[in-house]
Amino acid sequence: MNDIPVPQKKSLDDATITVLGLGHIGLPTALGLAELGRRVIGADDDASKVRLIRAGQPHFYEPGLTDLLSKHLKSGRFQPLEDVAAAVRGGSIIFICVGTPQKTSGQADLAQVEAVARLVARNLNEYKLIVEKSTVPAITAQWLKRTIVRYNPGRSPLAAGESTPGAPSPAPLDFDVASNPEFLREGKALEDFFHPDRIVCGVESERAREILTNLYSPLQRPIVLTNTSTAELIKHAANAFLSTKISFINMVSDLCEKVGADVSAVARGIGLDSRIGPQFLGAGIGYGGYCFPKDLRAFIHLAEEHGVDFSLLQEVERINQRRVDVFVRKVRQAVWTLQGKTLGILGLAFKSGTDDIREAVSLKIVQALRNEGSILRLYDPQAMPSAQRELPAAPGRLTYCSSAYEAARGAQALLLLTEWEEFRQLDLARVRNLMEVPVLVDGRNLFDPDAVRQAGFEYVCMGREEAGPDGLRAHPGKATA
Ligand code: UGA
Repeated sequence: MNDIPVPQKKSLDDATITVLGLGHIGLPTALGLAELGRRVIGADDDASKVRLIRAGQPHFYEPGLTDLLSKHLKSGRFQPLEDVAAAVRGGSIIFICVGTPQKTSGQADLAQVEAVARLVARNLNEYKLIVEKSTVPAITAQWLKRTIVRYNPGRSPLAAGESTPGAPSPAPLDFDVASNPEFLREGKALEDFFHPDRIVCGVESERAREILTNLYSPLQRPIVLTNTSTAELIKHAANAFLSTKISFINMVSDLCEKVGADVSAVARGIGLDSRIGPQFLGAGIGYGGYCFPKDLRAFIHLAEEHGVDFSLLQEVERINQRRVDVFVRKVRQAVWTLQGKTLGILGLAFKSGTDDIREAVSLKIVQALRNEGSILRLYDPQAMPSAQRELPAAPGRLTYCSSAYEAARGAQALLLLTEWEEFRQLDLARVRNLMEVPVLVDGRNLFDPDAVRQAGFEYVCMGREEAGPDGLRAHPGKATA
């Protein structure tokens, strides 16, 4: 086992940083810190991922990541390692970026976080600051601390603070635990790392406060200093609030359709109120991804565990789950029957800028349409390989296409499910000529209704005025504004 030499330094301002877990959060964080001039060791117990990273090929798509990786493999400031224990010994600041998936109960599964704590306990060769970055429920930091003490081999068998008369006291364990939740969006992870709205640091010692504030000072962004439980809660509350905004605007969108209002204008009209803010008011098929659905459930679970009635969040979740049905109903209204209809699908990733399909609403819609017997032609600029693993091609029923135009070929409707810029730039006249019936159902309100109509489409969207090319409403049987 090769140990990384630990430089003996009084100050931790240039201490080596270890990042454990090289996924969507860990790798951008590690490279961001390297870019800030720090020496960073990155480790993951999935050796195949580490090998890819060492070869300069991240195992997932994130804009700018490959270039930054190549830069810091060359600069020597980023060192990927398979040996997680050696990585722990080699760093003085340890960022925990491992997964916190959800259990069937909705509770966060903290097994990987605990495994890291035990590893740190066995490899505590010098002072270390252990920093939680993974999203974890409040009081996880307290458990981390307890676990590190409990599993440290040099620890007295008695509880910390007790001693056996006459026996030499064990050396006090020299470490701190802090919470520094991440707010990185997939597809914008590096942008968010370098230009965060705020940096939250939950600390319990002056030393930890100093290390983290010095670490982030080059970013010159506001730092919110709290205790660890508050920092943990800030992260869950942020994701829960953003999900609430999305479900709220989706209900407004449904109402807009009934009364002939336009949800985009409503979003602008309320979003310009600085107390509300314009972001996360995009109506559509609902939120997906690895974070919002899981974090919302974990937050609901935390509230229940502590006897707090946070049923508001249960409703947020229910509204989101209904978006698949709302959208499929729209498609049905647009094309009449779904059985045997050829539908082009634009977008599989849970949002643009990523190849991630975890909890993607688009895939749930694809499954629902498949169950209805539709013939599907799918395209996504980045997420095809991951989608193919999850949902293999089926000859004559489900085809992965080489471009958006191929997905449109022979289709009786085209469904927009992910808001890729590439789709906004499509040559709509060309798309129209490829389709058997020019119906466009826009689940993200990506297109300008006038432009689409002028190109000769029947256009169906979310919470906005819909019309056919002749100015008539796209689907018969709906109230006119
Ligand atoms: C989210 C948060 O935005 C990050 O701050 C956080 O760090 C991250 O989770 C995490 O916890 O790790 P992310 O899941 O990458 O980031 O994606 P978002 O941009 O937040 O979008 C989430 C979902 O909401 C997507 O499916 C997106 O399409 C949807 N969405 C977003 C809408 O439906 N409407 C909107 O107006 C905005």
